Amino acid sequence: MVRLFLTLSPAISRLSFLAASPSLRLQRHHFHKPKPKISMISPSSASNFQRTRSCSTGTRVSSLPKIESSKLDDGLVVLGIETSCDDTAAAVVRGNGEILSQVISSQAELLAQYGGVAPKQAEEAHSRVIDKVVQDALDRANVTEKDLSAVAVTIGPGLGLCLRVGVQKARRVAGAFNLPIVGVHHMEAHALVARLVEHELSFPFMALLISGGHNIIVLAHKLGQYTQLGTTVDDAIGEAFDKTAKWLGLDMRRSGGPAVEELALEGDSKSVMFNVPMKNHKDCNFSYAGLKTQVRLAIAAREIDAKCPVSSATKADRRNRADIAASFQRVAVLHLEEKCERAIDWALKLEPSIKHMVVSGGVASNQYVRFRLNNIVENKNLKLVCPPPSLCTDNGVMVAWTGLEHFRVGRFDPPPPAMEPDDFMYDIRPRWPLGEEYAQGRSEARSMRTARVHPSLTSIIRADSLQQQTQT
Ligand code: KG4
Ligand code: ZN
Repeated sequence: MVRLFLTLSPAISRLSFLAASPSLRLQRHHFHKPKPKISMISPSSASNFQRTRSCSTGTRVSSLPKIESSKLDDGLVVLGIETSCDDTAAAVVRGNGEILSQVISSQAELLAQYGGVAPKQAEEAHSRVIDKVVQDALDRANVTEKDLSAVAVTIGPGLGLCLRVGVQKARRVAGAFNLPIVGVHHMEAHALVARLVEHELSFPFMALLISGGHNIIVLAHKLGQYTQLGTTVDDAIGEAFDKTAKWLGLDMRRSGGPAVEELALEGDSKSVMFNVPMKNHKDCNFSYAGLKTQVRLAIAAREIDAKCPVSSATKADRRNRADIAASFQRVAVLHLEEKCERAIDWALKLEPSIKHMVVSGGVASNQYVRFRLNNIVENKNLKLVCPPPSLCTDNGVMVAWTGLEHFRVGRFDPPPPAMEPDDFMYDIRPRWPLGEEYAQGRSEARSMRTARVHPSLTSIIRADSLQQQTQT
């Protein structure tokens, strides 16, 4: 059973395969046959590359000479694969930013069943649909693997079991068709997809990245080089939206955030006076664990029963729930506003030429978030860039696009072997910071409890660049 419905843009249609669980969403943007790719890497030259690391899909600087991006732009075609959390996504994107296809299979039913992402079940769900999602992305782009210039895949941060499914698939495709492979940082992809949407957006710029697992504010100096001005000391804002939705008995099938946003429209946002987190911390860090507790207590005080879905609640009960949703949303976003304001001041001191602030990640689809942050950003004479909601939540386009950006400057791995053993050790990075922490912004609360597993993307890229410079 296939149901077809149109989104706001008539150029974009979306098919929803309701019969399949997890449901499969397809988006097809343009159906032109891509121009032949510029063979920056011919199969024969690709296989001759010096392998920088034999068991890795990590982003490495290869020995390939740099080629001006303008010469490559239209010829490149990259497949992007994303499986870091609960969405299995793939997309095909051209070097000029044209989205040839976008396919997402979401684990909505599982999310509703477990009230959150259960890693083992999520891994199994990814494994069930990954081949179909990738094949659909190729078919809908009207390309075959032979038309691709490279395969890009998220290698971290995220759930290890889930990342593995995407990386394994990417390596299979790349190995079978002798394609280079680009390991992508999930949060960098959330930020960089804004450059596909807004062509004026050049470095340096700021980015607030707000999702289910991350809440970071960074200064993007160059491709791959970020200063982290702030992060969360505990939970991310998306997690707080999801728990609020669950405790309010909302329908989690589209994830909690959209459900809270919708119900909040009916409520009075000043009816419950939640405290704004970290008021006394003059830094750019975030905390949502305390707000979650405040919400839980308010729900208990009003004797709201989450087992009774909001759709069956009495009028008064529904009103109570809506008031909590609206009050929570107001304070959760106020916390973002306060920290963003300070972060912009800090960033402008470090890089006075900044003109843009990107807000991306799943929570950036929220209209209230966009509206409030736009005021803050405009007051500081910057321009807000928010990708459309379909590119804010996890998707394959952002991975393909980020892969393209790195591929152009020669950062990729050579094709993997056609066959890899089942016990092959993949380079996946579940905990992988994006940037180096800004010393002034370091939080006492956080430095006590976090252990880094991987050096940040920024430090890896800096080390690679230094190594290259010393070699030339
Ligand atoms: O970036 P994303 O798709 O996946 C992660 O990397 O985590 O973000 C998912 C998060 C979820 O917590 C979801 O509830 C939240 O984004 N979200 C929203 C909205 N749409 C998605 N939160 C608030 N309002 C929304 N409209
Ligand atoms: Zn994400």
